[in-house]
Amino acid sequence: MSNLAIIGTGYVGLTTGAVMAHLGHQVTCADLDPAKVEKLNQAELHIYEPGLRELVVAGLASGRLRFVVGAAEAAEACEFAFLCVQTPQGADGEADLTWVLAAAAELGHIVPPGTVVINKSTVPVGSAARVAAALARPDVTVASNPEFLREGTALADCLNPDRIVVGAPDVAAAQAVAALYDGITAPVVITDVTSAEMIKYASNAFLAVKLSYVNEIAALCERVGADALDVVQGMGFDQRIGKDALKPGPGWGGSCLPKDTAALAHMAATAGAPAGVLQAAMHANNEQRRRVVAKVTAAVPNGLHGARVAVWGLTFKANTDDLRDSPSLAVIQVLQQLGATVVAHDPQVEAAPLEGLLLASEPLLACEQADVLVVLTEWPQFAAIDLAEAAARMTGREIVDARNLLDRSAAVAAGFHYVGLGR
Ligand code: UGA
Repeated sequence: MSNLAIIGTGYVGLTTGAVMAHLGHQVTCADLDPAKVEKLNQAELHIYEPGLRELVVAGLASGRLRFVVGAAEAAEACEFAFLCVQTPQGADGEADLTWVLAAAAELGHIVPPGTVVINKSTVPVGSAARVAAALARPDVTVASNPEFLREGTALADCLNPDRIVVGAPDVAAAQAVAALYDGITAPVVITDVTSAEMIKYASNAFLAVKLSYVNEIAALCERVGADALDVVQGMGFDQRIGKDALKPGPGWGGSCLPKDTAALAHMAATAGAPAGVLQAAMHANNEQRRRVVAKVTAAVPNGLHGARVAVWGLTFKANTDDLRDSPSLAVIQVLQQLGATVVAHDPQVEAAPLEGLLLASEPLLACEQADVLVVLTEWPQFAAIDLAEAAARMTGREIVDARNLLDRSAAVAAGFHYVGLGR
């Protein structure tokens, strides 16, 4: 078992730390925010992620997981240090490496000789050399071990990954990093650092392309009279296509796909290999948000100005509290600009993230006097709501279901005119 430092306690850092302690390693997680660290040591998490709190509780109780302020205490005795800090989107879509390089520079003063510093943050291809330069420690190896977990299923993805990817300058270092995952069954891909970095971007951008494709197919299904749900089901059984990331929706959002697709497109242009497919996927994603707005507009014949719109769901997808680049917020903003009053409910959102947005504490309360109900996040509990009750509270009889979540026949039986995506 090894001594690990984890720098950064976001979705990736916290999940990695909890899972590594679960696997038996001695793990110290560092964050710059003292208040956050104090809470984490009491197993109070600042993010909502199913099952993660329980694993943190178990890690703390075992003595194998602890949280400290700053990298120094975490890394002074470590054998492996994971960089899990944020890489926000900078100008031109390029990833901003400020935090990664600052953390690397700090680690350079701390880590014992022979430490392996492992990049888990999503950094542009070729960043390992910059991390090595910031470390300024020829005795320290820099490896890349990209993370593929999804928010909302972070723990399950971490414990049951489709693959483990490790890139390092030499095979022995890569194997040492891969061995940290002993106890987890998954194919291991060992490669050079640059290829490992590329695998992460190419995977996320592929998902973005796939989703944009599916959303365009759904729009076409509407025109030709096909049912997109049957179409994607039929496509998904083809193992070359795969059934995941095939649901039409209001567009792909979150903290990763939009940022990483833009970063890869920027890298491609800079490298002289422009990626037209990525550009098209980003364009289609903007169009998708516009299509959802058009459906809502069409549902209110007297125009959105002065209309009351009930929205179910604000987060970028279900089972997370993350609002970053949420398609729901993008759609709501346009509805507001068109003069609508929007009342929203989301099980994980307690403060209005947009000016002028009204929040309801229950889904049915959002429906009071509404002209139209719009479903923007696929929280499963919305599917169980009695739509007759929703109808009784609303003025209008229109549903726009941008996640194809609700039971169409139940909606129709409750007197609604139901509009899904691609149906
Ligand atoms: C994504 C990748 O799926 C992870 O593999 C990766 O590790 C992560 O980014 C990251 O780089 O950290 P995540 O951002 O959590 O994970 O979200 P996804 O589940 O991929 O969903 C992205 C967006 O696509 C969401 O807005 C979601 O609602 C949408 N989506 C997803 C659909 O519209 N339909 C689908 O079938 C799936």
